[in-house]
Amino acid sequence: MPAFWHWFVVGLTVLFIIWCVWLVSWSAKQGPKNVGDEDLVGHKWDGDLEEWNNPAPKWWLYLYFITIIWGIGFLIAYPGFGNFKGALGWSSAGQYEAEMAAAAATYEPIYEEFAAMDFEALSQDPEANALGRSLYASYCTTCHGSDARGATGYPNLTDSDWQWGSSEQAITSTILNGRTAVMTPWGQILGSDEAVTNMAKYVRSLSGLEDADETIQAMQQQFTMFCSACHMPDGTGNQMLGAPNLTDDVWLYGSSIETIRTTINEGRNGQMPAHGNLLGENRTKILAAYVYSLAEK
Ligand code: HEC
Ligand code: HEC
Repeated sequence: MPAFWHWFVVGLTVLFIIWCVWLVSWSAKQGPKNVGDEDLVGHKWDGDLEEWNNPAPKWWLYLYFITIIWGIGFLIAYPGFGNFKGALGWSSAGQYEAEMAAAAATYEPIYEEFAAMDFEALSQDPEANALGRSLYASYCTTCHGSDARGATGYPNLTDSDWQWGSSEQAITSTILNGRTAVMTPWGQILGSDEAVTNMAKYVRSLSGLEDADETIQAMQQQFTMFCSACHMPDGTGNQMLGAPNLTDDVWLYGSSIETIRTTINEGRNGQMPAHGNLLGENRTKILAAYVYSLAEK
């Protein structure tokens, strides 16, 4: 915190404490001192129920003073007084780290035991899957959905289709290091709006969504020239590059002519963030096996 804000917070805090002390002492002196004084505030209920202007009871006032002293004690012990770190040296980050270290000490041996298992067996182990499910819930649901069925641009992890591969090595690498898909824009290279539309129709024809007339058939030449390096000549894709299979009925971005035209014109750069630092190798393997267990085989 810059010096200005440090002194600003310290000044305000001190002023506020002084004001509280003054307010409580001042209100202690208000009102008649002896119960029985003829001092009514003027409210009347049910004909004869009246409100006396009596001071707050002493024990009540002492509670206020105790609260103020407690507050000052708190500011001495814990951070809160500008830049002052507090006499106990406590910090929320420190507490978090201590809790994480304690949790790691408890759970790491369990993770290690599971991670030593064979991947296939791990994916069928109910206890490992329960662990995997809770890891999934904490780290993956925001993008892939709580049912792992994904959304537009976020792959469905429960189907049999894999953009980047379903081997142990492929899934763990996806989670540890993340993935960046590179589909460059092709609108300009194809040359005209019509060519883009025809290419979109050709792509749809690969999965039987479009009947290919001669013009569309003719796009095969351009497909071989521009697209097959990644999507393969027959359009079945390449998991090394994350280039999707264009011949099946699974679509990451959508199968309408408009959506495919956008994909071709503007390109796509899907990003799966790396989770290695968050999860470590053991938990990644448990999670990878869980994800594998969700998928149709
Ligand atoms: C450099 C490799 C590369 C080339 C060349 C390439 N693509 Fe792609 N394509 C990809 C990748 C990678 C993705 C996945 C993008 C993502 O996940 O964000 C993709 C995605 C797509 C999709 C979206 C599929 C879906 O499921 O929504 C279509 C359609 C597509 N490409 C068509 C084409 C066409 C047509 C061409 C040729 C004009 C082409 N691509 C050329 C790599 C390539
Ligand atoms: C910020 C969003 C985000 C989060 C969080 C996220 N993912 Fe992903 N994930 C993606 C995107 C986007 C892709 C597709 C990348 C591409 O276009 O190629 C992807 C791809 C994948 C794939 C590849 C699927 C295939 O067909 O090959 C797997 C497996 C995967 N994610 C698992 C996970 C797991 C497990 C977690 C939790 C640790 C996770 N993801 C967290 C966005 C996310």
